Amino acid sequence: MSLETVRVIYCSTVTSELKKESFIDMVRASVANNKQLDITGILLFDGHYFFQVLEGEKEKVQSLLSKIRLDVRHKAIETLSSRAISTRLFPKWSMELINSDNDFFRETYAGNFNPYEFSDTQALDCATNAKAWRMRRLQQA
Ligand SMILES: Cc1cc2nc3c(=O)[nH]c(=O)nc-3n(C[C@H](O)[C@H](O)[C@H](O)COP(=O)(O)O)c2cc1C
Repeated sequence: MSLETVRVIYCSTVTSELKKESFIDMVRASVANNKQLDITGILLFDGHYFFQVLEGEKEKVQSLLSKIRLDVRHKAIETLSSRAISTRLFPKWSMELINSDNDFFRETYAGNFNPYEFSDTQALDCATNAKAWRMRRLQQA
């Protein structure tokens, strides 16, 4: 029997515990850790809200999520979508970051990015849009 692959999308709100230097370190450590766990996805951070997609083996994703939930650098964690998948949306990205240095939020959400309002479908649309946006940027680079 093959192991179940899942995609979980959640959003959260940054707390004052997040410092700029530690954020960069956290992203680096997360990329390395996710690689090891064969977890892929994306992290959007507009300076206030986080929106993260995690894809991988169910047990691994769940155990990572329980760790992430305890992290004091964010709060009000809400699951937007959680489902079994047969194909990953982010097969190659361990934890691709899109932050407010990028125009993604302005271009896609006209500066009104509020992931707490997303339905399951809108959360998936956001993930798909972020992927397309990043791919365009990579092609232009
Ligand atoms: C918004 C947010 C997203 C995170 N995403 C990940 C992630 O994808 N992978 C990861 O290993 N840690 C992630 N972390 C960090 C974890 O909460 C935790 O600090 C990290 O896994 C280190 O745990 P350890 O000290 O047990 O090694 C995230 C933290 C925050 C605040």
